[in-house]
Amino acid sequence: MANLGYVGLGAMGSGMVKRLLAAGHTVTGTNRTRSKAAPLVELGMRWADTPRQVAQAADIVFSMVTNTGAVEAVTQGPDGILAGLAPGKLYVDMSTMSPDYSKALADQVAAETGAKMLDAPVSGSTITLEQGKASFMVGGDAGAFETIKPVLLDIGPKAFHVGENGKAVAMKIAVNLSLAVQMLAFSEGVLLAEKSGISRQQAVEVMTNSVIASPMVIYRGPFVLGHPEEALFDCTMMQKDLNLAIELGQKLNVPLPTTAAVNEYMSAARGMGLGHYDFSIIFDVLARMAGVDTGR
Ligand SMILES: NC(=O)c1ccc[n+]([C@@H]2O[C@H](COP(=O)([O-])OP(=O)(O)OC[C@H]3O[C@@H](n4cnc5c(N)ncnc54)[C@H](OP(=O)(O)O)[C@@H]3O)[C@@H](O)[C@H]2O)c1
Repeated sequence: MANLGYVGLGAMGSGMVKRLLAAGHTVTGTNRTRSKAAPLVELGMRWADTPRQVAQAADIVFSMVTNTGAVEAVTQGPDGILAGLAPGKLYVDMSTMSPDYSKALADQVAAETGAKMLDAPVSGSTITLEQGKASFMVGGDAGAFETIKPVLLDIGPKAFHVGENGKAVAMKIAVNLSLAVQMLAFSEGVLLAEKSGISRQQAVEVMTNSVIASPMVIYRGPFVLGHPEEALFDCTMMQKDLNLAIELGQKLNVPLPTTAAVNEYMSAARGMGLGHYDFSIIFDVLARMAGVDTGR
């Protein structure tokens, strides 16, 4: 069993720590908002006051926070993760953030601490995590990947090494744009069926059993019949990933026309006061444009 650290105990971080504790690992954790750690401490997690202390206590330290700015906040400065790293330790960031920053951070970790960093973003949600089905993409040193692979497999069944530092976050961004694009295409189909006189419920049932039924559509499609009160991945978080994709597309000269279009739906959702909902609220935005009342 490994001696692990975890920085960032939000929805995803907490789910990860639960699985790591259940697998028998020692986990020392911290979070900006301490109250979120309480249920994990009850399960056996050791609390540390700062990211630095987490990194000092652990052999492998993970972080999973909102975005590039949040990763900067937990890694830099006298109480940041880097201040607690040393040669022989591994730092694994699971956040979805800028590939360029991730790569630069890995260089900084190596130069300033002698430790190694990997980027290991996650495909899945809090529910996928609970089901033990989340998968990982990993960027960085291949030997370090082999070291952390058994730990990742205690969280979910698949971990892919996709290249050097920063490549895994690029891969993750490439995956995530399809979530929103698929949700928009699905919503268009449901609304077209609905305005043709087919009930929304029946349209969802037919479409989730048709050739377009990807795991994403099977999982989120039924949300158009009633969105979860608590977002699994809200519009602001999804727009962060879409903007990362658009930025990368501009840098690499890859046009992303459907990503750019669905990105506007995230702004529209917020403009309509629906931004706190799961991004599946795209359906309601489109419904309003089509003159269909969803009651929200
Ligand atoms: N939710 C999903 O389905 C999902 C799936 C795959 C990947 N992801 C990615 O996972 C990451 C975390 O997502 P989440 O759903 O767990 O979000 P979340 O529940 O909102 O948690 C965000 C975490 O980041 C911390 N944080 C934010 N800004 C910070 C700052 N400036 N300094 C220190 N800590 C800061 C928060 O601390 P506080 O508790 O103090 O606010 C919290 O621990 C994101 O990059 C997201 O894109 C999410």
